[in-house]
Amino acid sequence: MPEEFAIQLENLGKAFGRGRQRVDAVRNVNLGIQTGVVFGFLGPNGAGKTTTIRMLMDLIRPTSGQAYIFGQDVRRNPGVYKRVGALVKEAAFYDYLTGRQNLELLARTARDYRSGRVDYLLNQVGMDDRADRPVKTYSTGMKQRLGIAATLLTDPELIILDEPTNGLDPDGIKDMRAFIRSLAEEQGKTVFLSSHQLREVERVCDRVAIINQGEVLREGAVSELLGRRSELRIRAIPIQDAHAVLSKEWQVTSDGAWISVRARPNESPKIIRQLVMFDVDVHEVVVAKQSLEEYFLTVTKSNDPTRRESEPLQKEDEDV
Ligand SMILES: Nc1ncnc2c1ncn2[C@@H]1O[C@H](COP(=O)(O)OP(=O)(O)O)[C@@H](O)[C@H]1O
Ligand SMILES: [Mg+2]
Repeated sequence: MPEEFAIQLENLGKAFGRGRQRVDAVRNVNLGIQTGVVFGFLGPNGAGKTTTIRMLMDLIRPTSGQAYIFGQDVRRNPGVYKRVGALVKEAAFYDYLTGRQNLELLARTARDYRSGRVDYLLNQVGMDDRADRPVKTYSTGMKQRLGIAATLLTDPELIILDEPTNGLDPDGIKDMRAFIRSLAEEQGKTVFLSSHQLREVERVCDRVAIINQGEVLREGAVSELLGRRSELRIRAIPIQDAHAVLSKEWQVTSDGAWISVRARPNESPKIIRQLVMFDVDVHEVVVAKQSLEEYFLTVTKSNDPTRRESEPLQKEDEDV
């Protein structure tokens, strides 16, 4: 396995239960995650994200396939976890100790621990002012921040976070997003995070795998996945002529003075040239990128046309 892969999953599968009770939580997942990227594992609740991460962390045994971290089969080479920091569920802390005391306690048991790191991390996750209060007074979001600080104590190269912004308020989400980006951009870390929030993944991740009902449906650069199906909205006169010209080559719909063209983003100049060539006046052009949410719905629908969205993805507020 080449070192440039932080994570590789090969035909990874997990079934819980037997017979009629059998649940195929993860089915035949293949993924390669390169070092230095923020990779999003996106899917609705129950898609199989946590189960995949638990196999990756060797917390449960796969029914089929293998997981590799830095080229090492995790079941055979547990030593590789020295290079990994993971937050898989809400971290367990001592309630009666303060956040700082909890981290210091963990730090003492961690190898390669440098003094000053606890202070540094408390600051990084925005907890300096609350570090000296007992954990029992913390909100879910504060515990989440402390949990992330704890995963970073040993300065791991790969950071695995299961739904890292769960329980955070809008400001907390913003901070967390900036912090995760800085881990990759300033410190060269690889981050693998799961999320059921499209905007989260859209804004934080370089690459994304979309998982639903245990299957990875798509994988790619966030920009590629979004750019592929963009829509060009054009206000043109006369609209009938615009429709006639463009519908020869593209999928076109029109309403009122506007015409919508399904095209790749780099086809815009060609589309406009065509209109000009046929004496259509172009008044306005708007490129409307498909959101990841719309994209996800198209992907899951095309995957199984009989299935309706029983578990819609949760939306965040627009401006978070
Ligand atoms: N220990 C378990 N026993 C039985 N079923 C489980 C267990 N853990 C998860 N599942 C099932 O596996 C599927 C995937 O769950 P999970 O990986 O937690 O999804 P996600 O993290 O994407 O929300 C769900 O249908 C869930 O009910
Ligand atoms: Mg989960």
